[in-house]
Amino acid sequence: MLPNNRQSEGRIVLAPMEGVLDYHVRQILTEINLFDYCVTEFVRVTHHLLTNRTFYRLCPELYHHGTTLTGTPVRVQLLGQDPILMAENGQKAIELGSYGIDVNCGCPAKTVVGSQGGAYLLNSPELIYQIVTKMRQAIHQATPLSVKIRLGFDDKSRCMEIAQAVEQGGASEIVIHGRTKADGYRADKIDWPTIGQLKASLTIPVIANGEIFSPQDAKNCRMQSCTPDIMLGRGILTLPNLANMIRFNQPAMSWQQVIQILHRYAITQIDEAKPFYHSARIKQWLSYLKQHYPQANDLLQGIRTLKEQQAMIDHLTCALDQR
Ligand SMILES: Cc1cc2nc3c(=O)[nH]c(=O)nc-3n(C[C@H](O)[C@H](O)[C@H](O)COP(=O)(O)O)c2cc1C
Repeated sequence: MLPNNRQSEGRIVLAPMEGVLDYHVRQILTEINLFDYCVTEFVRVTHHLLTNRTFYRLCPELYHHGTTLTGTPVRVQLLGQDPILMAENGQKAIELGSYGIDVNCGCPAKTVVGSQGGAYLLNSPELIYQIVTKMRQAIHQATPLSVKIRLGFDDKSRCMEIAQAVEQGGASEIVIHGRTKADGYRADKIDWPTIGQLKASLTIPVIANGEIFSPQDAKNCRMQSCTPDIMLGRGILTLPNLANMIRFNQPAMSWQQVIQILHRYAITQIDEAKPFYHSARIKQWLSYLKQHYPQANDLLQGIRTLKEQQAMIDHLTCALDQR
């Protein structure tokens, strides 16, 4: 049950995280927290219209009117550089039920940048403008179209041009991760005030993103970026109820509650899961949880050599029983 004594205003969005925030984790996190919406992991648009199967695999919520089972809207994220193909695929995702479209202009992965997508687009505000314009022409004016950017590729000198290209192309909102591609994920590089400067020159809503790991960070980010709307990425993995801690002043979940979540993830049957999928994902999640819960480190050591799903379930069941 979600509390109804909402403490803070402003939207809170669940970030896209490829290889981490899949359908199952989105479901768990949107049961625990009240998010305004989620964004899927990115899907690459290369040479053709993606198949229905690809969209449904990326976003099984499309079987459910584009929301998680608890009713949180989910937006498909597209990554590509061809304006026409991006527009056609965006239109298709909307027809299948996506709650709007998000365009990835920030992915720093070598293969993505090498194929001139993701963060590569930050070098070319003109191309961002063309992509957004074509996409807006292909989808209804009232349909949400967001673009997720970083502050630049090597430096921030073109951040204003980039943000204005997004707005002038017809996006309904912009998500700004307050670092450049060159900054990677360095904590000391986070720059919320520059988000604030961009916000001052835009009329569309700005969602600030980057380095929010606590309610105090959320407060600082909102103040420095001058926007009430924020997006949570790695922070929600370190504190699984972070969105509700921010919204409702909830205390952090207990370690026992966290183990219950991990156990639930471990027992989930996932079609087409590769061998050792569960063990890899749970180890990955524990490495985030370590930042807040020291017990995660011990658990991680205990499961280090485990690979099979059943072994993970058995170990987590034992951990649950040790109350
Ligand atoms: C493992 C990982 C995967 C990510 N995948 C995506 C993605 O698919 N699309 C995207 O736009 N951003 C992606 N990001 C970036 C996050 O959405 C977010 O912008 C970034 O982590 C900064 O926010 P944070 O400091 O709250 O984590 C990813 C980040 C990480 C760490």
